[in-house]
Amino acid sequence: MRHIAIGIAAALGLGLGAAAAYEKDADKDEVKAEAEVTAEDLLAADVEMGAEGYAQDCSGCHATPARIMRGVEGDTPEEQALWLEGFLPDHYAPEAEMRAAIIAYMLAD
Ligand code: HEC
Repeated sequence: MRHIAIGIAAALGLGLGAAAAYEKDADKDEVKAEAEVTAEDLLAADVEMGAEGYAQDCSGCHATPARIMRGVEGDTPEEQALWLEGFLPDHYAPEAEMRAAIIAYMLAD
């Protein structure tokens, strides 16, 4: 089958090349569409809203972010934001906008 495909590819020449290029672009768009939120998005979220969200959804168990931040992986705020974005959906912050705000708040100082 592969030989036939290569034969056809050779016969079609440029046409197939264009099709392949199109397919590659489509793949790229798909990856982009599925891409997760970036660290920059998270860190730019609404800190005030995050403070309220933290008080409401987190402070019952974690009075302040200080102690739990030690358990957050990452050497930079960007890495920590992405780690939290992976951790919190299943840990009391299922809603994306509020989660981003809480992350921005936790990393604000
Ligand atoms: C019902 C209690 C409870 C609530 C509510 C809660 N957590 Fe937790 N959380 C825990 C427990 C228990 C652990 C694991 C033990 C620990 O590190 O304190 C934990 C761990 C964590 C960790 C990881 C710390 C580590 O050392 O592994 C982070 C970060 C965290 N919570 C953030 C949050 C945030 C942000 C919220 C609010 C959206 C939240 N938690 C709400 C109980 C809670």
